[in-house]
Order: sequence, then C-alpha cells, then structure tokens
Amino acid sequence: MKIYRANILHTPTPGQLEIIEHGYVAVKSNGRVKGVYKELPQNMDWRRQVMDFGDKLLIPAFNDMHVHAPQYRNMGLALDLELLPWLNTYTFPEETKYADPEYARRLYRRFVHELWMQGTMRAAVFGTIHPESTRILADLFVQAGMGAYVGLVGMNRNSPETLQNTTAELMDGMRMLKAHLDEHGNNGLVRPIITPRFVPSCSDKMLTALGNYAAETGLPVQSHLSENRSEIDWVKELEPEATCYGDAYNKYGLFGQTPTLMAHCCYTDGEEMELMKKNGVYVVHCPMSNSNLSSGMAPIRKFLNEGIHVALGTDVSAGHHMSMLRVMQYAIQVSKLNYAQTKGEMPFLTLSEVFYLATKGGGSFFGKVGSFEPDYEFDALLIDDSYLNYDHYTLPQRLERYLYLGDDRDIKRRFCRGVELVEPTY
Ligand code: GUN
Ligand code: FE
Repeated sequence: MKIYRANILHTPTPGQLEIIEHGYVAVKSNGRVKGVYKELPQNMDWRRQVMDFGDKLLIPAFNDMHVHAPQYRNMGLALDLELLPWLNTYTFPEETKYADPEYARRLYRRFVHELWMQGTMRAAVFGTIHPESTRILADLFVQAGMGAYVGLVGMNRNSPETLQNTTAELMDGMRMLKAHLDEHGNNGLVRPIITPRFVPSCSDKMLTALGNYAAETGLPVQSHLSENRSEIDWVKELEPEATCYGDAYNKYGLFGQTPTLMAHCCYTDGEEMELMKKNGVYVVHCPMSNSNLSSGMAPIRKFLNEGIHVALGTDVSAGHHMSMLRVMQYAIQVSKLNYAQTKGEMPFLTLSEVFYLATKGGGSFFGKVGSFEPDYEFDALLIDDSYLNYDHYTLPQRLERYLYLGDDRDIKRRFCRGVELVEPTY
C-alpha cells in the first residue's frame, strides 16, 4: 500500500468536480486505488506510509485518445490547407519516411518522451503502414511504462503507392504486433488496435478483413469519421450502398462491434448519431485539429445529451500541440462559438465537463482509468501551481487557472497504473 497526501481533484461524473482538501489517496500494490479519504483511518501501519505532497494538486493523468505519432515532425507546420489536400501535400510524404526504422526510432522517441512530459499517461495512437516501425513505437511505450493502444495503419487506395500496404501485409503485420504485445505489452498496458485510416484509404476487401479480425480477436478499432465536408461527399461516392459514413464502417463490423474510437464526428447527426449511440461508439473530439484544418465544430453537447461516450484528442499534427491542457481550452472555446452560432441551442461545455473528458471520458476506454474512485488504476499527476497561487484562490479556482495557464513544467510527478514514471532516458 502507498498513501499520498495532497489536494485531490477528480471528476467521477462530468458535472461534478470532487475535491478533497489535504486528502489522502491509498493505492494498493496492484496499482489500483483503495480509497480517497478526508481523514486517514486510524491505522498505524498506514500512518507510517504517508507521502505528504503538501499544498500541491493531485489530479488524474490525461488520456489523448487520438494522435498520429508519425506526424510529430510536422507539428506546428503546414496548417494552410483543408483535410484532403493537407493529407496529400504534407502528411503522406512525412509518413512515407517511416519505412526506415531508424528514422522511426529517432522521431518516435521524441514523441513518447513528449507525451510523458505533457502528463499524458495513456494514448490511442496511429502509427503508419510499416510493421517494424510500429513495433518500435509500441516498445517505446512499454519502456516508458505508459499505456497505449498502438495501431498499424491500413491503407490500400487513394494514397501514394509508397504509402500503401496490401490486405495480406496488413493482416500479417497485425498478427505479429498482437503476438509481440501479448508477450511484451507490460501486462496489457500496451495493446494493438485495428486501424483502418479512413474509408477513402481502404478497399472493401481490406475493411472486410479487418472486420473479421475484430470479430476473431475482440481487438478494439480506431479511425476517422465525418471530419470534413469534402471527405464526407467523397465517401458517399466511394460507398454508395452505405446509408451514412458511419454505416460504411458498420457494414464491416468496425463500428462498435468491438470497442471503437471515431475521431472528429464534426457532421455526425441523425442516423449516424443513432448508430453511434446504439453501438456504444466513442466520439474523440479534436477541437484544435478541427480549428486548424477548418473542418467544423462537432456537436459535443448533443453527443453528451444522447449519452454517447466522448473523449478528447490532440490529433497531432492537425492539432499543433501535444498538451491536453490546450485541447481542453479549445474544447471550451469551440463549444462557445458553437453556442453563439446555434443561438444558445447548444449550451457550451463547462470546465468540469472537459476535465472529465480529458481524464475519465477517454480513460474509460482502457477500463477503470481516469478517476480516483475505488478500484481505478492510479494514473495521476502531481501539480505545483504555487506561482499561480499568490493570493487567496479556492481549490476550484486553482484547478481552473492551472487548466488555462499551466503547462508541463508544473507537473512534478507522474504515475501510471500505480507506478511513478521517471523521465524516459532512452
Ligand atoms: N483522416 C485520414 N487521415 C487523417 C489524418 O492523418 N489526420 C486527420 N486529421 N484526419 C485524417
Ligand atoms: Fe487523425
């Protein structure tokens, strides 16, 4: 058992920020929370073990549920086009370089290191079509002690010849990645995820094979959905049988038949929204990306009202920063623009709601992750906000100021599944 004392803040539900001033959290040796306490139980054995973090803040670590590792080098560049020309002009050429495992290792190290730095202890990550480079990426997460779903990307149409795999190559690569991580994935902390890039990149044959593989293995799925108007029109042409973009995944068993993440959903409504709700598909909201690529404003309030799962993602490099703090700020700001645009029809997101989305909203995809409720895996950040706390601020105000004004330098300790993670040195 380990016991930490600090100001504890978490969101068991979206609307409810729970605060325990100078409270205690007890973590079992299996890395799971035993409980959170205002007063320490009268147990001498426990009292001896308290690690006192003084007046600092202890919050659940962040979960980035949509990010492209091979776009790391392009971060903060090339945001002057919409999605489809952006992919062709900037993104595909960069991803092609990951055919070289040494290039991959050099850049993926920086990528995983920066996730650690930003306090993102778990992520759902796109690699590329290259099996060896993608295995290297997965191994870097294992070495760092962080959690990840790592995707070998399927794409066999409408992209450069040099950035396409065949269905057979993709399936071989997936099997190898799964076998590797079944053995070396740090007890399930790093796992594979089925990753068709998006419908325009994948033939019917590839989608069929991936759907069968999901049914066979139960592995989760991640992809992109209804991000951009031209993309949606294109999918209608490519898949005339599908009743909506989401149905083009659903037909193949890639839409909630196993746990599924769909990034963006800017234009999801009506039938597509119903299908997501019915199948328990997660929306991964990427407001920084949607602003940068002029994609649109996802109706997050509607998704939440419908009881659809929502998580947040940076979508680097369409998103220009790895910090989930920034994603939370964008989520609130975009929701306020949407509120104005809909003349108040869609109430904007609150701070407590986006904090929930960045922690438990995404964490729930990994299991009991993202809050300090009993039996949750202890993923946490210790925050020193003393430079922001120079007058009498309340704890909710301190959290608000950290989320708006803080950055990675304020994170003093990071925990994933109960283990404190030191800076990766590879
Ligand atoms: N749709 C298909 N590929 C991508 C990608 O790499 N980034 C984004 N934002 N959307 C995509
Ligand atoms: Fe993306």
